[in-house]
Amino acid sequence: MNMQSPSPEASDPGAEHSRIPRLEALRSEALSPTALRPGVVRLPSPVEELDDERFARHGVRVLLKRDDLISPVLPGNKWRKLKYNLVDATASGKSTILTFGGAFSNHVRATAAAGALFGFTTIGVIRGEEHLPLNWSLSAAVAHGMRLTYLDRSTYRRKHEPDVLADLRARFGDFFPLPEGGSNPAGVRGCAEILAEIPDEVESPFDIVACGCGSGGTLAGMAANLRPGQRAIGFSALKGGRFLQDVVDGLQRATFGHATDNWHVECDFHFGGFARRPPDLQRFIDDFAGRHGIALEPVYVAKMMYGLLELTRRGTITPGSTVLAIITGPDEHPRAASYPVRA
Ligand SMILES: Cc1ncc(COP(=O)(O)O)c(C=O)c1O
Repeated sequence: MNMQSPSPEASDPGAEHSRIPRLEALRSEALSPTALRPGVVRLPSPVEELDDERFARHGVRVLLKRDDLISPVLPGNKWRKLKYNLVDATASGKSTILTFGGAFSNHVRATAAAGALFGFTTIGVIRGEEHLPLNWSLSAAVAHGMRLTYLDRSTYRRKHEPDVLADLRARFGDFFPLPEGGSNPAGVRGCAEILAEIPDEVESPFDIVACGCGSGGTLAGMAANLRPGQRAIGFSALKGGRFLQDVVDGLQRATFGHATDNWHVECDFHFGGFARRPPDLQRFIDDFAGRHGIALEPVYVAKMMYGLLELTRRGTITPGSTVLAIITGPDEHPRAASYPVRA
């Protein structure tokens, strides 16, 4: 059972066929040998059934797509979004990748790791002032060889304008620009592949796919690869996440030439704002770790999982539904090591 009736586009077999061959073609695209270096990533990521009476008592089945297990250094949607960007950077002949993010950005850290693995120089342009000593996340980026620079918040908002980029080029030379969160068409194409792995692994089809939502690429890609009747929900990690509706729409148009209307953004589970972790969210994380041995990544994944439980309790996700929850990353904070995480 779905949350809302299927969109006209999602139930139109013609629309389905116009999407899937394109994605099939993407999957068979030749990747550069370095991007396919064995042992870097483990794909397809496993799908596990969540045995949790809080969902079961409402007749809702939950499957976890464990993208957090793809790689220790390029986990979750990081690999999905970096994959085709690394291919594009290689094809463009650029040896430097420059990207943007906040001081605790998972994406900045992963880009640094990808640079170290695949031989790119990496520059991280960080929002706000420098704070020393560096936090654990930026320290990890620097340990992977990333150079950091900082833009005050008003300049950061203009980061894609020509004068700001020209200034960065003057300082760092030519580079392959990667947007915040890795959400550009190449990133969206990589995220579309998450669901392409599903048919081989899951016997019964799912009704709803869910992910955390920050820069929108993960939701945009997955929604473009749904079957008729399936829907996607992105749980905004940010307060005031309504704007993400336009962001995701724009990413789909830029990537596939059209937007689908089989998805929406849930804006009520931000827990006070981006990266906020109030005690009720922390209790939920601790309880989940105790029940399932999984340390939920707190910025996106825990909020999604909490939101799914709440929508199930409210009956918005109806009995009989199967939900595929994408575990888009592990909790990489050093403190997470104290959780009883399963291998
Ligand atoms: C662990 C994790 N989950 C989900 C997201 C949200 O993905 P997106 O930025 O594509 O909306 C991010 C950010 O990239 C993330 O780091």
